[in-house]
Amino acid sequence: MDRSCAWDVRMVTQHGLLIFLFLEASYANSCPDLCTCSPSDHQPLKVDCSFRELETLTLLPSSTQELYLQHNKLESIPTGAFDNLLVLKVINLSSNPWHCDCGIWYLKNWMEDQAGDLLSGNVKCFTPPLLRQKPVSKLTKELTSCSSHRKCCFDFLFIDAFLLVLVILWFSFLIGSIMIAKRIKFKMKI
Ligand SMILES: *[C@@H]1O[C@H](CO)[C@@H](O)[C@H](O)[C@H]1NC(C)=O
Repeated sequence: MDRSCAWDVRMVTQHGLLIFLFLEASYANSCPDLCTCSPSDHQPLKVDCSFRELETLTLLPSSTQELYLQHNKLESIPTGAFDNLLVLKVINLSSNPWHCDCGIWYLKNWMEDQAGDLLSGNVKCFTPPLLRQKPVSKLTKELTSCSSHRKCCFDFLFIDAFLLVLVILWFSFLIGSIMIAKRIKFKMKI
């Protein structure tokens, strides 16, 4: 292979990688739909998703420092959804209809891992009726039969699938570009 073709391939690789990194970074750090994030230009972020009738949560920016989720229709938090929030200082989860079955296990466990008074006791079960008003943090025996939920994270599999698709697309793009570069080179020789 001569030098100019190798150079083309390297350019394509670098551009592909940059585009991929950009897509990944913007995906991981964009403001969730229906929420408002401030400030918009720099970090850390205050993410306000309160009073939005949210039923499910999407991936949150990893730079989230304050997260307001009160007064929504959340019944659970998908497994892993808070794992990237490493700079979180304030969170409000109150006034959501938390459904206290095995699906709440991740939230309870996550809250246990948080320092001190990041959360007050106002995260309360709404359903099933037997557990209404019981603080999620006080659930113990209700969740003893949930061992299978602890290991599996089917909830967030779609994020992984999405990233995998991105990687595959990027590789296809790379291979396609190399082939095109080679073909152009070939034509030029003729
Ligand atoms: C969370 O929001 C509720 C409702 O807006 C409010 O009453 C409560 O004080 C807030 N809790 C925290 C810890 O900010």
